[in-house]
Amino acid sequence: MVDQAKQLRDKVMQKKAKKERRQTRILAVTSGKGGVGKSNFALNFALGLVEQNKKVLIFDVDLGFANIDVLLGRSPEESIATMLEKDLAIWDIIEEGPNGLLFISGGTGFNDLFQMDESKLNKFFKELSQIQDMVDYIILDTGAGLSYENLRFILAADDVILVTTPEPTSITDAYSVVKMVHAKNRNVHMKLVVNQCTNEKEGIQTAENFKKVTEQFLGKQVETLGYIPSDANIPAAVKKQTPFLLAYPRTHASKAIQKLASEYLEIPLPYKLGLKGFLLKMLFK
Ligand SMILES: Nc1ncnc2c1ncn2[C@@H]1O[C@H](COP(=O)(O)OP(=O)(O)OP(=O)(O)O)[C@@H](O)[C@H]1O
Ligand SMILES: [Mg+2]
Repeated sequence: MVDQAKQLRDKVMQKKAKKERRQTRILAVTSGKGGVGKSNFALNFALGLVEQNKKVLIFDVDLGFANIDVLLGRSPEESIATMLEKDLAIWDIIEEGPNGLLFISGGTGFNDLFQMDESKLNKFFKELSQIQDMVDYIILDTGAGLSYENLRFILAADDVILVTTPEPTSITDAYSVVKMVHAKNRNVHMKLVVNQCTNEKEGIQTAENFKKVTEQFLGKQVETLGYIPSDANIPAAVKKQTPFLLAYPRTHASKAIQKLASEYLEIPLPYKLGLKGFLLKMLFK
């Protein structure tokens, strides 16, 4: 393990030792349609949880277009691919972002791993188990749609946040995700976030309709986590490569994310499989 990585690990372990025991939960952020705001949501929601004193690691598992590092204006030195090539430790590819947020960039190397080499993938996930109970949340920023890999992440997570916009195309694609996931496993916890709402009324209406339809046609409860307004400061923050919660903490979208993060922490999860459960499901699918 290189020096910097060791320092980061020791820092996280030290903090952990001071506080009560952590229990890692895996939260997947996904959507049907692409470009609805998943990555921006995942990153800023993660920072919202950090503001609530949670230790959070965001893991970019978008196998097509990983871009959490771009949103953070960072280019990590090591990747999952080089980690396996050089036999590095997981801490060598964990980066420290703003406010102590941890992140792993997936990128193309991770994609190759999924495409070609299941044994290397297993090695990677075993290495990932090192961070068991060192963080409170691992947030997976998945790609859009129903690829085999996305489904695998969704089914292995403790909790799933489904992001949609109020547009009918986005809603019908989100519905297809619920349908597919529900057909595979009826017990997956899914919560809806309506992003890019013109006003709160539109958000509430979109979520209520979605809930009604999934209940009626699939017998599936998809609770609403909340709404995020359309906010010109989000694209402005993306251009600055700074998370909007930090660049514009008082803008409408930031206030909405903060509310979502604190409300999320109030929701009890009926069961917690955590990182071990996640890895077991990923490895023995
Ligand atoms: N609430 C919002 N208000 C205004 N613009 C937004 C909002 N949320 C996201 N955007 C804009 O939408 C674009 C897509 O956002 P983002 O990259 O987070 O989507 P994504 O769902 O992760 O996309 P992909 O499916 O490609 O991974 C970004 O350019 C961002 O600036
Ligand atoms: Mg994205």
